Amino acid sequence: MARKPIVGGNWKCNLDKAGVSALVTSLNGMDCTDCEVVVAPVAVHLGSVVDNVKAPIEVSGQNCNFKGNGAYTGEVSADQLVDMGAKWVILGHSERREYFKEDNEMLRQKLEYALSKGLKVIFCIGEKLEERNANKTLDVCKSQLEPVKDLLKPETVVIAYEPVWAIGTGVTATPEQAQETHKQIRDYLATVNADMASKIRIQYGGSANAANAPTLSACPDIDGFLVGGASLKPEFADIIKAIA
Ligand code: G3H
Repeated sequence: MARKPIVGGNWKCNLDKAGVSALVTSLNGMDCTDCEVVVAPVAVHLGSVVDNVKAPIEVSGQNCNFKGNGAYTGEVSADQLVDMGAKWVILGHSERREYFKEDNEMLRQKLEYALSKGLKVIFCIGEKLEERNANKTLDVCKSQLEPVKDLLKPETVVIAYEPVWAIGTGVTATPEQAQETHKQIRDYLATVNADMASKIRIQYGGSANAANAPTLSACPDIDGFLVGGASLKPEFADIIKAIA
């Protein structure tokens, strides 16, 4: 079953107005006919990116609240992301899990709520270095997927497998390591629903760049990337070219 690759650019907490404008100009010159491209600016810049980036590139939030509007100081609701023109939201990023203590229960609430508002979701999972070293990689990934398994639909959810030890470190999973884990994740998903498992897209994230994208994207169970640092550079276009 052919799955259309999808590349996400997670800008994290980076860029000022001038930087956003320059990046959007460079994105608008890219050819992204053969893969889906989604960019995730920081919330305060989301409206200007929606207004200025050209289709087919779509815009994502980096997080959203577990409920709608209300007394949730500092939060952004899924309703507000939709109202601003975002089509996607990233949930479960390891930085949210680690620094903001988002647990599986909270992430289930967020995923369910975001989907109910019509957002598509990039749902992140992945193990820490000590967990990989203890041969717990698949256990960790399963423990993060199990609570949301009934919500995983290929049309509305993309899974981003991001080994935490590879994020922002310059240490990328080898194609063998990444493919092995992607396959194990897909095999686990097949125990939930074989059709869903064959259709759902699983991105790789963690120091993806123009040099490693061709070999990683050639792996049969890798369906694109969630890119952090390199998504802020012209290199992002080369990552997209590598998989198209
Ligand atoms: O969301 C993106 C990931 O955290 C990967 O970040 O490409 O800077 O390693 P990175």
